[in-house]
Amino acid sequence: MILITEDKIKNRVKELGREIRNDYKGKQVVLICVLKGSVFFMTDLARELDETTTEIDFMQISSYKGTESTGKINLINDITSDLKGKNAIVVEDIIDTGLTLDFLINHINSKKPESLKICSFLNKNKINYKIDYTGFEIPNEFVIGYGLDFDGKYRNLPNISIFKQK
Ligand code: IMP
Ligand code: MG
Repeated sequence: MILITEDKIKNRVKELGREIRNDYKGKQVVLICVLKGSVFFMTDLARELDETTTEIDFMQISSYKGTESTGKINLINDITSDLKGKNAIVVEDIIDTGLTLDFLINHINSKKPESLKICSFLNKNKINYKIDYTGFEIPNEFVIGYGLDFDGKYRNLPNISIFKQK
């Protein structure tokens, strides 16, 4: 079942881009893509930002197996940028239990960026933490598409759909 259409995603990403552009005028920004889930979101968002002040970087972590969090975060690949004097924006696909977020905040803060903000495409609203930029708030369902997977599949769906196991 489709929860968020491709059109709605496009419009919302443009809006978020406008908001971030206004908030960071003239400042050096590093968008940190958390692989693999936020790759589509980050690349779409990046193209809405100022090309003379925006850098991109990637890191990879893992925590999920199937539809259940393993509860343990593994850092598979780290970013390579020096964040000193730069404004980091961690770009996440979805905030669920907040465990990943917690790890990311500590990890990126230890690299001493000028500032750190979080931008998540989706938020299941289960945690009491203010996310700086959110694409959509969604119900507590397992979703797929636009980067989000079930066991590695469905990431390339252009919409967000609720996943029902057959
Ligand atoms: P958290 O650490 O529980 O907040 O989970 C965050 C990570 O779990 C996300 O970056 C996703 O990779 C994955 N995840 C959480 N909920 C979903 C979902 O509904 N569909 C697909 N992946 C999910
Ligand atoms: Mg993820």
